[in-house]
Amino acid sequence: MIGFYLNGKPVFGEFNPGTTLFDYLRDQEIFSVKFGSEKGETGADSVLLDGKVMNSSLLLMHTIDGKVIETIESFSQGVDVHPLQEAFIEEGAVQCGYCTPSMILAAESLLRENPTPNDDYVRESLSGVYCRCTGFVKPIQAIMKYATSREDR
Ligand code: FES
Repeated sequence: MIGFYLNGKPVFGEFNPGTTLFDYLRDQEIFSVKFGSEKGETGADSVLLDGKVMNSSLLLMHTIDGKVIETIESFSQGVDVHPLQEAFIEEGAVQCGYCTPSMILAAESLLRENPTPNDDYVRESLSGVYCRCTGFVKPIQAIMKYATSREDR
């Protein structure tokens, strides 16, 4: 039996040894975590594990015992989206959207670590998430806009 938190709620269970967190999340109908590859190269399968971006396809369930897992589902309440999501929308940082949940998780993780990042820091922090559409320009603008708006508070 293992236990962990998923989006703020405690989960307890027993899992087959080869079950990955990605498999589990799909069974829970958490579809923001996307399949990218079985080896996690694309970052589309990202989650936050204790606040750090990790590939859910590479995490076996027994390794998350006692951990805190967050997906983008924890960022919005009903139709109210998180200000970081709002910044992505306002800056036109969402095109096909396949990478967007992972981009936002990576952004949240980097801003927890460094609330006042520069462009280079943001770019480096997003390097584990592939985006075929945006060239990273708009997502970086969105993250900088959000970071700056928080500084102004
Ligand atoms: S918006 Fe399409 S892959 Fe990033």
